Amino acid sequence: MGDHKEVQEILGAYPRDPRHLLAALQDIQAEYKYLSIESMKEVARYLGVSESQVFSVATFYKALSLVPLGKKVIKVCAGTACHLRGAPRLVEAVEDALGIRDGETTEDGQFTLQTVNCVGACAMAPVVVVNERVYGKMGIADIPGMIETERKDEAGE
Ligand code: FES
Repeated sequence: MGDHKEVQEILGAYPRDPRHLLAALQDIQAEYKYLSIESMKEVARYLGVSESQVFSVATFYKALSLVPLGKKVIKVCAGTACHLRGAPRLVEAVEDALGIRDGETTEDGQFTLQTVNCVGACAMAPVVVVNERVYGKMGIADIPGMIETERKDEAGE
């Protein structure tokens, strides 16, 4: 319920007028990185608009996300074998390439970066897993190509 209160605080900066709908949603998105169902209901109640209207605005704008994770979750293995073979540098390379930190999602909702425990492919260390796809023996020079591949993959679906 802590979230609940903070959404109220964000909304409190706006007069109760439907024309502030988009701005309020953007503020909540900026704070939480996504719009929960509960937060959208709060917005509807506060601004006096229907929940379906809030939902349609939230789904129309690409910068707004209803889910906390990106479409592709990039998991960099931080297990011992991967760590010893340079996983921390891979994390940095992904952070630099996407402009996000570990645990964050890109603004377009495309990618989320996570570090995870051993994914069970130590022979291929260091390992990066993007959704179900496993990239083994990764070097920092491979990161841009991997991201490019995943972007194209998404576009082609
Ligand atoms: S430590 Fe990375 S796959 Fe096992």
